[in-house]
Amino acid sequence: MSNTNILYKQGAEGRIFKINYFGKPAISKERFKKKYRNEELDKRLTKERIRAEAKSILRCKNAGICVPAVYLVDFEGRRIILEYIDNSETISDLIDKLTTKNCDESNEKLKEISIKMGDVIGKMHYNNIIHGDLTTSNILIKYESDSTWNLYLIDFGLSYIKSSDEDKAVDLYVLERALTSKHSNVNWFFDEFLISYRQYGENNERIFKKFNEVRARGRKRTTIG
Ligand SMILES: Nc1ncnc2c1ncn2[C@@H]1O[C@H](COP(=O)(O)OP(=O)(O)OP(=O)(O)O)[C@@H](O)[C@H]1O
Ligand SMILES: [Mg+2]
Repeated sequence: MSNTNILYKQGAEGRIFKINYFGKPAISKERFKKKYRNEELDKRLTKERIRAEAKSILRCKNAGICVPAVYLVDFEGRRIILEYIDNSETISDLIDKLTTKNCDESNEKLKEISIKMGDVIGKMHYNNIIHGDLTTSNILIKYESDSTWNLYLIDFGLSYIKSSDEDKAVDLYVLERALTSKHSNVNWFFDEFLISYRQYGENNERIFKKFNEVRARGRKRTTIG
């Protein structure tokens, strides 16, 4: 491994370095020690996050969903090393860019992305993977060539495997909230996403019903408090 580690992103939970892992561009996600937390508990929680991330990435990969490859799982070093998704940007950044342009071409592109997103998240849920932090910053678009691109899912630290409609509905609700709070000018984006998501599997209509309940509960909570 080379020593030219570049601090890529600094988050609340840890740091992300762009590194070179045996000749391959990679991302090292390192989690901080929380001094206020009991040491054993802190160690266990960190381990759980890292394990969750590796496990769901592998499950996605087996299901044919684009995710970064896992290069190294290092519990002692509190880090996981993943393939760097080159030539990519977050959906969040792309939406911001395209909505500023606000031309037919940009809207058409956004529509295509929302449909593809419905497909990918539909597939993820079909495989009983609950993401746990489904936001537009945790979905990357990778440009494969001038005209082709793929969506990559990342940031699986809070994910788990469960078949529950309710948990899948909450995932959708988190995504809706992320979209409406960050990109309020493209409410139609989530509607298009949902249409595509509902078409994915036979259970998705049931999840959609649950989603409406979760949404209603969320609204009530916002109105009350
Ligand atoms: N494999 C990757 N390839 C390219 N960019 C990445 C990759 N993983 C992460 N990033 C970039 O780094 C950002 C943060 O990564 P990530 O979402 O995994 O960590 P985080 O938000 O700090 O979450 P957590 O709290 O779970 O550590 C992403 O939004 C993306 O811009
Ligand atoms: Mg993230």
